Amino acid sequence: MRSIASYFRILIFAGISLYFLNWIGTSGDVSIFINQPWLWSIWGGLIFFHISCEICLAAISRVIYNSLNLEAKEKYDARIALKKANQFVWIKIYYKALLGSKNIEEESEIILDHNYDGIQELDNDLPPWWKYGFYFTIIFAVIYLVRFEIYNDYNQDEEYELAVAEAKIEIEEWKKTAKDLVDENSVILLTDASDFNAGKDIYLNNCAVCHKSDGGGGIGPNLTDNYWILGGGIKNIFKTIADGGRNGKGMIAWKNDLKPLEIAQVASYVMSFENTNPLESKKSEGEIWKDAESLKEKK
Ligand code: HEC
Repeated sequence: MRSIASYFRILIFAGISLYFLNWIGTSGDVSIFINQPWLWSIWGGLIFFHISCEICLAAISRVIYNSLNLEAKEKYDARIALKKANQFVWIKIYYKALLGSKNIEEESEIILDHNYDGIQELDNDLPPWWKYGFYFTIIFAVIYLVRFEIYNDYNQDEEYELAVAEAKIEIEEWKKTAKDLVDENSVILLTDASDFNAGKDIYLNNCAVCHKSDGGGGIGPNLTDNYWILGGGIKNIFKTIADGGRNGKGMIAWKNDLKPLEIAQVASYVMSFENTNPLESKKSEGEIWKDAESLKEKK
């Protein structure tokens, strides 16, 4: 017997099984359904199995029903009808009581004494969901007033600051897992010791031949001064390393050899050379670089 109840059961089963699989499978932030997409097919299979069970059950009850004789069928139908009538009976009774509506015989008690061309009005109570909803808004308003207008719990500015602070923490967390997504626009100076050491390794293995291990410069320019040919600051340095220098100068684009994170690490390491003034450093080339940030602060 296909009934609404079986559709509900399927929906509820689908929801609970999804939640359950996600709950037992997921460790960390990312749902197992994202890490292991094949799980979707397991889930689909479970639902399919459940649907076939429902169909089998419905078929069996149909067969049994049809095998009953007429009298038994009638008895059965009557029982089902009674059950249906009593379904949610408590809710119905309760709602009606709250509504305060009267049976048609008692309507004279609540009839209002005006009469427009035979149209009369009953003085019914408001629907309970409306009435209690209204009371709720009053209570809410009182609490809100006392909390925010009298005791000044927090205001919108503070709420905003808090949300921004929380978002910043989340971004930091995210960056830890998404470091390799950086590009010249999103790169920031990496200050962790592990990034510094990784940057140092990359520098010594790839860059020191031309820029010297202390950054003093050789074939390539001095990286320890405030003068930059292609622009200073982490973003420009990242871009130079990724895309290379001017044509024919010998600084290749490293983006095919180094991952974005590695470029960010070595760029951060290069930044640490600033003002180290090694002996025998190459003459400064390019223009003196002022960070946009430091310019802003001076204003
Ligand atoms: C083959 C030699 C060579 C190697 C290897 C090399 N560079 Fe360079 N680098 C140069 C030259 C030459 C320039 C100047 C480019 C120009 O003038 O356009 C330069 C420029 C730069 C600049 C810009 C300097 C400025 O004043 O704007 C940075 C930053 C830099 N290199 C970093 C690196 C890093 C990091 C590596 C290693 C991943 C590296 N270089 C490897 C030769 C090299």
